[in-house]
Amino acid sequence: MKITIIGTGYVGLVTGVCISEFGFDVTCVDNDASKIEKLKAGHCPIYEPGVEQMLRQNALAGRLHFSTDAVEASRNADAVFFAVGTPSSDDGEMVDLKYLHGAIKEITPVLKDGVVIIVKCTVVAGTTRTIMHMIEKMRPELKFSVVSNPEFLREGSAVDDFMKPDRVVLGVHDAHGRSVAEHIYRPLSLQSTPIRIASLEDAEISKHASNAFLAMKVTFINEIADLCEKTGANIIEVADIMGLDERIGDQFLRAGPGFGGSCFPKDTRALAAFARKAGAPQMLVEATIRINHARKIASAEKVIGALGKPEGKTVAILGVAFKANTDDIRESPALTIIEELLNKGINIRAFDPQAMTAASKMFPDVTWSPDPYEACENADAVVLVTDWNVLRALDLTRLKSIMAQPLMIDLRNIHRRKEPAKVGFTYISVGREIAEPSSEPTDLKGTRLTAAAN
Ligand code: UDX
Repeated sequence: MKITIIGTGYVGLVTGVCISEFGFDVTCVDNDASKIEKLKAGHCPIYEPGVEQMLRQNALAGRLHFSTDAVEASRNADAVFFAVGTPSSDDGEMVDLKYLHGAIKEITPVLKDGVVIIVKCTVVAGTTRTIMHMIEKMRPELKFSVVSNPEFLREGSAVDDFMKPDRVVLGVHDAHGRSVAEHIYRPLSLQSTPIRIASLEDAEISKHASNAFLAMKVTFINEIADLCEKTGANIIEVADIMGLDERIGDQFLRAGPGFGGSCFPKDTRALAAFARKAGAPQMLVEATIRINHARKIASAEKVIGALGKPEGKTVAILGVAFKANTDDIRESPALTIIEELLNKGINIRAFDPQAMTAASKMFPDVTWSPDPYEACENADAVVLVTDWNVLRALDLTRLKSIMAQPLMIDLRNIHRRKEPAKVGFTYISVGREIAEPSSEPTDLKGTRLTAAAN
């Protein structure tokens, strides 16, 4: 079976590489010639653990190819995956389908009978059906099928998510589309991955609804964290206790500075706008979008408030990626925080293990440093914004010794509450009481008397 993947961004590349690992002959197409050159040379253009090695192995085995020519790559394809970008439209709400529609128009004239068009892009309900009608109109004689196959990959663990997913969703319209799509995912179904056959629209909505639900869950725990701060409770304990209830589950209950990335913000906006238009407004999703926006600003205000008089102070921002294990800064809370701090006349020094190239272009006024300790030299406060492991491993004593003021604001609850305070930091985190240096009530052996070490 020959498979073509149109769009070699994050989703397209991971899908192409993983499907070639299944043994299929795969051609990944992108109109960015420099990206294709890089891929041909065996280099992965994104930071995603595990992709580059798998890419090289499959290219070497002769079953993974790269091309800038969508038409040639689609001519003999048995299945064509569409994973082109679907950016937000100009009003920032709906999704712009120009690349998807453009690619369909480009390749339809050369498609062969029996081809299956598989839409991987996140699109609102009805999009795959519209594409089917577009192709029918252009080639009334062509025998083809469409499938909606939403992706649930997380950046940073995409290979694992592809190879061991909770489920594969196949929205189908006819038996041929179903059987080809099932054949492609057979290596996963043989390993007991649930392959869920659905209608085109069920598949499309399930993707938006899943992401919106997770975004809502994060937003919910963020608000509960605010309540914990007001009452002396501890969000880590509260979330742990909630998570023990299997109906709730323990994932996506880590309070923080708000969600970011390329999916949650865009997908919640698209779902809300689409649902409004469809006459079924999603009030919870609308609220989630508003609360998350406010959360990023409130996180910046938390830092500004902790500084006392902010003008002229120096703050070290550690972590700018929207989450750990990615170089992606799209809609990262760190961007809002940096912007708000700069507006207050605060000097910023910043570090991120992977995301500095993109971020430094955006904020040339920030002093970027390749080392977290260097970024903290003479700083009046250090702010931990991304949950990188390298920030968990910081030598807190060393950090305190090089800073002008021992103030740490941990927006990810990376550290145990008492540890930075033990070495002399005033430690402000999320949904937990502020820990002042050595102010904790202890028993005679020096053990903290209040509930948890978290
Ligand atoms: C998400 C979905 O999880 C994935 O299924 C979909 O295909 C693409 O969108 P991703 O954007 O890679 O994946 O990130 P994810 O790990 O879901 O995190 C999203 C945001 O929520 C990040 O900003 C993250 O820091 C935040 N988050 C997540 C929290 O603040 N707390 C949590 O407990 C979990």
